[in-house]
Amino acid sequence: MCGIVGYAGSKEVNAILIDGLKKLEYRGYDSAGIALQHDGKLLISKAAGSVADLEKTLTGQENAVTVGIGHTRWATHGRPTDENAHPHSSCCEEIAIVHNGIIENHSALRQWLTEEAGHTFRSETDTEVLAHLIEDYYDGDLLEAMRKAVSRAEGSYALVAISSREPGRLVCARQDSPLIVGLGDGENLIASDIPALLAHTRSTKVLEDGEFASISADGVEIFDADGKPVDKEILEITWDIEAAEKGGYDHFMLKEIMEQPAAVRETLRQRIDSVNGKVTLSELGFTAEELNRLEKIHIIACGTAYHAGLLGKAVIEKIANVSVEADVASEFRYRDPLLLENQIAIVISQSGETADTLAALRLARQKGLKVLAITNVVGSSVSREADEVLYTWAGPEIAVASTKAYLTQLVSLYLVALYLGEARGSIDAETSAGLISGLKSLPAHLKTILSEDSVVKLRDYCDHLSKWDSAFFVGRNLDYPVAMEGALKLKEISYIHAEAYAAGELKHGPLALIVEGIPVIALVTQKAVFDKTLSNIQEVNARGGAVFAITQEGFEEVARQVESVFYLPAIDDLLAPVLSAVPTQLIAYYAALARNSSVDKPRNLAKSVTVE
Ligand code: M6R
Repeated sequence: MCGIVGYAGSKEVNAILIDGLKKLEYRGYDSAGIALQHDGKLLISKAAGSVADLEKTLTGQENAVTVGIGHTRWATHGRPTDENAHPHSSCCEEIAIVHNGIIENHSALRQWLTEEAGHTFRSETDTEVLAHLIEDYYDGDLLEAMRKAVSRAEGSYALVAISSREPGRLVCARQDSPLIVGLGDGENLIASDIPALLAHTRSTKVLEDGEFASISADGVEIFDADGKPVDKEILEITWDIEAAEKGGYDHFMLKEIMEQPAAVRETLRQRIDSVNGKVTLSELGFTAEELNRLEKIHIIACGTAYHAGLLGKAVIEKIANVSVEADVASEFRYRDPLLLENQIAIVISQSGETADTLAALRLARQKGLKVLAITNVVGSSVSREADEVLYTWAGPEIAVASTKAYLTQLVSLYLVALYLGEARGSIDAETSAGLISGLKSLPAHLKTILSEDSVVKLRDYCDHLSKWDSAFFVGRNLDYPVAMEGALKLKEISYIHAEAYAAGELKHGPLALIVEGIPVIALVTQKAVFDKTLSNIQEVNARGGAVFAITQEGFEEVARQVESVFYLPAIDDLLAPVLSAVPTQLIAYYAALARNSSVDKPRNLAKSVTVE
């Protein structure tokens, strides 16, 4: 989510770090910082805002220094402020670290470090515990101290540290967050992403989970989790800078689609109690009494986030036994909604800056409702103005078409539903355990859906679809909002006119539009309405429509009724929308590609809609 760069060599490190951080700003851009080894001390500069803001704080003292680390942040724990920016240092400021990832047991570690080991904290971040832990174990060997420190940390990390007592040395550790060593001539680098390395070298070594590295100008040593040296092959990078920013994919949208297993894993991380297996949303400050007397929830959002809200409505009503209304924010704010006691609002916004959503949030608060925001951007307007915030932790989403943010919004809404269900006693232990285990299985299932074979199948289908100027998405029950989202995605980037219909509505009008060969994408994942949806598919078949069905393994009957079928791994029907959204995203992507559309920046659209 954030960007890391480190350098050991003979050139002025200052300019190298700043340039590397600028190349990584697409990974996170709410604050930045550098730490340099300078005359037996560490020089640390950090600033909220962009790397350009950080540059303004540099005094010139940093020149002529040749070893250092830098970081550009996408906030998760703690607001985007100067204090929360990385690098973080230990109490005596002889160690500085930069970190990507999340330390799940940071609260327990912080408590131990302050109460038992006498450390003083300066930031609100989870990362700072690592700086103090390393200091606690440090007796002159930074790598050994890092090894001991991370053995106590649960979570994910790409971690790089320097010490004022070990000039010329950087040490690193990796777990579930990438780190790549760049091999130069008389200089070596470390970075979280390849773009930061390309100006210096194309020869790299990629660290694996559990590995550590010690880097100096003259050499790189890599060790496994047991401290044994690892001999790694050199990987030569052939990408240009633009391809490297996209992780080698042609577009940010495809990169973001492919990041969904990791994004969903991050959203779930720490929110399921490892001891009792229940959902724990410790960040939410609702009292048990507030949750129990809840009579209605208003979900408000725009575009894709609204579609997540429609699914949230269905899931919360089912699990938490409370009535939910879902509104498009631009309608909610002008329809004079009935907002009463014992109601709350949930606003959903990737950017946290959407003007209509923000206005709806203000209206709900003005009328006395407590507002929970589900958003991806720490420090955004929505997060600041809401009473409670649940972050989606999808990482920066750059493509205008929302994909990974949408999936993490859905997962967050399932968490909210389970949390409410538990608090209100409306879900039994067995059902709750089944759904939680289903949630945990999502990242693996998403990986299966994103495998090469599946993608090729969808790509082939899009050759047919892309020749049409009109397409339909149909589904019933939970499949209907997925159909709406699929149609929006297709319109948005391929410019094919796509409409979503509740499958049962076809015969009330839209069937008149079905002609020979017209593409109809049918979502068929809900057992309760399986036969009904198949009947609707037959209505389309009878008029010559070409149906492409997205269904679950085990629903093999579908294949007999349609032209082509895409199988999702079998999953609880309630969770199927998280999986079925993905093939619709890929259909939109490949159809747009076949029509040569501008995938990441579709015409007339902006990523963040800050005007009414
Ligand atoms: O940042 P937000 O989630 O508030 O944005 C809401 C919509 O503008 C957004 O979801 C839009 O519909 C997307 N471009 C759809 O892909």
